[in-house]
Amino acid sequence: MKILIIGSGGREYSIALKLQQSRKHELFFAPGNGATSKLGTNLKIKDYNQLAEFAQSEQIELTIVGPEAPLSAGVVDIFKARNLNIFGPSKSAARLEGSKAFMKDFLARNAIRTAAYLNTDDYDSAAKFIDCLTAPVVVKADGLCAGKGVIIAQSREEAKAAARDMLSGESFGEAGKRVVVEEFLDGFELSFFAICDGENFVSLPVAQDHKRLKDNDAGPNTGGMGAYAPSPLASPELIKQVEEEVVKPTLKGMKAEGNPFCGVLFAGLMVVKGMPYVLEFNVRFGDPECEVLMPLIDGDLGEILLNAAKGDLKPVKLKDEFAVGVVMASKNYPFSSSPRAKISVKNVPENSHIAFAGVSEQGGEIYADGGRVLVCVGLGKSIKQAQQKAYELCEKVEFDGAQYRKDIAWQMLKGRE
Ligand code: AMP
Ligand code: GLY
Repeated sequence: MKILIIGSGGREYSIALKLQQSRKHELFFAPGNGATSKLGTNLKIKDYNQLAEFAQSEQIELTIVGPEAPLSAGVVDIFKARNLNIFGPSKSAARLEGSKAFMKDFLARNAIRTAAYLNTDDYDSAAKFIDCLTAPVVVKADGLCAGKGVIIAQSREEAKAAARDMLSGESFGEAGKRVVVEEFLDGFELSFFAICDGENFVSLPVAQDHKRLKDNDAGPNTGGMGAYAPSPLASPELIKQVEEEVVKPTLKGMKAEGNPFCGVLFAGLMVVKGMPYVLEFNVRFGDPECEVLMPLIDGDLGEILLNAAKGDLKPVKLKDEFAVGVVMASKNYPFSSSPRAKISVKNVPENSHIAFAGVSEQGGEIYADGGRVLVCVGLGKSIKQAQQKAYELCEKVEFDGAQYRKDIAWQMLKGRE
C-alpha cells in the first residue's frame, strides 16, 4: 500500500516502523525527519491542498495524521473532499482537543465524568467560581497551547491572577481569551487510547506518560520523557468502565451531534478512588505513548487504520508483552534549543529499537537536532524486562548533552518485582 504520514516526530517514526514490519508498504512523510528518509520518502510540501493533490496523483491509498495541528486546521476535510482515505478526525471533531471549552461542555451534555468546571470569557465570573473552590485550583486556556496552557494554582489568588493573564490575552494570546476553571482532582493519571471509525472502537493497551523532566517527577513539565504500557494500574474492570462510561458515550454523542469521530481518541484520565475522570481528550496518538503502543499491536497497522478510515474497523490483536520507552532529549530541553550533535549508536540489543524524533541527516549521519531527540524502546514479558532492555539501549546511544530520566516505569515496579 502507498501510505502518507503527516508529522515529523518519534510518534510518526514509530508508526512508520510498525508499518514497515509488514513489508508491503511504500511510505511517504510530510515532512518527516532525518531518520524517516531511511523508511520512505520525505516530502517538502507544506500546503494541505497541495499535499492532497500529491496524494491523488501518486495514488496514495491511506494518509495517517500524527499531530494535532493539521487535524485542527482541517487536513482531514481537505483530503475527504477529494475522496482520499485519511485516518484522523475532521476539523469539527478535532475540537475535542482543540477547544477545552467545547470538550468540557460536550462531556457535561453527555454525562461523562469530569472535574466540576466553569467555561467563561469573563473575569468576574471566573473569580466568583474560583471563590467557590478549595485550592489547588486548575485554570486552563481554551485553545491549543502546545501543552502549556494548564496552570495548577496553589491558592485562589494565584488562580485569579492566572485567569486574568489568560483572559487579557497576555499569557496565551487568542487561545487564552476563553478559560476553563476547574476543581483539582487528586489521583493517578492514565492514558487511554481507542482507534475509532466513527461508530466503533478498539481499545489499545493503557499507557502511562512521565511528563516531568527529572527523576521522581521533579523539574518542569515537558512533552513527555517516557512511557510504558500496558499499565497494571488499569485493571480489566477499570478498562471496561472507561469503555462503557467514556469511549462509548463519546462516540455516540459525537455522531449524534453530526461530528462522527474517526481517528485516535486519547483520553487523559485521572483515576480518583477507583473512578475514571476525563482530564482532557486528544485526537491523535500521544508522544511518547505511541512509541510503546506500536510494538504491542499484532497485525498489519496499514490494514487496521485503512479499515478505520473507511468506517469499517475490525478487531485488533495485541501482543502479550510490555513496552517501555525512554526519551533521550537534548542538553537544553525544554528551555531552549541545543547545538546540533552527532548521534552514534554502538549496537542495538535484541528486543529493543530506537524511534527517532528531533533528528536531521547529513552525509549519511544522523544528528540530534531538536528537543526530544529519540526514544529508546525496550520490549519484554514483564515491565522490568522491558525497562532493562530500554536502558540497555540508552547506554549504547551517544550524543553531546544527551539527558534522560533513569526511572521510567520505576514507580510502577516499586514493591512489585
Ligand atoms: P490537560 O492538558 O488538561 O491534560 O492538563 C495537563 C496536566 O495537568 C494533566 O496531565 C494533569 O497532570 C494536570 N491536570 C489537568 N487538569 C487537572 C485537574 N482537574 N486536577 C488535577 N490535575 C489536573
Ligand atoms: N504525551 C502526551 C501527549 O502527547 O499529549
